[in-house]
Amino acid sequence: MSSAEWLLSLETSCDETSAAVIRRDRRVLSNVVSTQFELHERFGGVVPEIASRAHVERVLPVIDEALRQAGVSLTNIGVIAVATHPGLVGSLLVGLTAAKSLALALGVPLVTVNHVAAHLYACRMAAGEDIFPAIGFVVSGGHTHLFDCRSAVEMELLGCTTDDAAGEAFDKVAQILGLEYPGGPQIERVAQGGNPRAFAFARSYMNDAQLRFSFSGLKTAVLYAAKGTPGARAAVPELTPQRISDLAASFQAAVVDVLIAKCELAIQQTGRQTLCVGGGVAANGPFRFALEQLASRLPCRLVIAPRDLCTDNAAMLGLGWELYERGMFAALDADVIPGLMRT
Ligand code: KG4
Ligand code: ZN
Repeated sequence: MSSAEWLLSLETSCDETSAAVIRRDRRVLSNVVSTQFELHERFGGVVPEIASRAHVERVLPVIDEALRQAGVSLTNIGVIAVATHPGLVGSLLVGLTAAKSLALALGVPLVTVNHVAAHLYACRMAAGEDIFPAIGFVVSGGHTHLFDCRSAVEMELLGCTTDDAAGEAFDKVAQILGLEYPGGPQIERVAQGGNPRAFAFARSYMNDAQLRFSFSGLKTAVLYAAKGTPGARAAVPELTPQRISDLAASFQAAVVDVLIAKCELAIQQTGRQTLCVGGGVAANGPFRFALEQLASRLPCRLVIAPRDLCTDNAAMLGLGWELYERGMFAALDADVIPGLMRT
């Protein structure tokens, strides 16, 4: 095997165009992220065709900027890593096509990375050392998935959401409350001035012994509390800023409670002593705080991805080094696997 020193990674699975240069010791030399919030905001969610067109325009400048910031020239890159699954088909194809072209032109190996596994690898990148075996919890816009991770590349699904992902629920509830996209950070912001006990929202599956989640009933409960139950006669109180804050805080508390209960159950059921948590929702302050409390109560080792590595980024594709080191290279006819992670 050739011995590469620098890896160039590309992440274009959804609405962020990102490129990073990562050294073999997993040090991140650059991590450039171009977000597309402004393009999707007025639609209240990601529009796939707009996302893939924006990736086409941005991918080369983002790669150039990542190389410039790292102070590494393209000819020094020894391996190309790209997220190919899961995600939006057109978005993934832009990254994969760029990655294949670079690998072919430079004559270096290509590795194709699972985006969900990479969210967990963000924890490994931050820890600066191996953290596996561990329970891995990905809480993002598309996934609420608990894994038993034997290593960085061997993960078994323990359980996941039966309907909406947690981040999706944050985004939809934000829309109901008239907040901007993406909803997670907005809910967290307005919840600061709210009472988390103002509304007693149900915690789905909270007390059952299965590792599963459901958030769509909670979203509907917020809708009815905010806008009224269909067919009901009673007038709904006006949606004042205080009521919005109370609804946001009560919703957030309900989500955090179930996320924490299932982390505890996964640790109990598997006997693992490390918990790593990644994905956009892991940037949420009250969730991070509750995870820390859980870890000291159990106790277990907790590694949460740093906030800037929670939402989509190419630095978490440092996972590509693990594939490279195991000789798990991809061929130039590699394809994308769109959709959500197969369960
Ligand atoms: O991991 P990510 O960037 O993309 C996916 O792979 O889905 O996650 C994006 C999701 C969005 O649903 C967003 O609302 C949510 O993460 N999110 C948050 C916060 N920051 C981002 N949710 C709650 N609190 C936050 N601070
Ligand atoms: Zn993601």
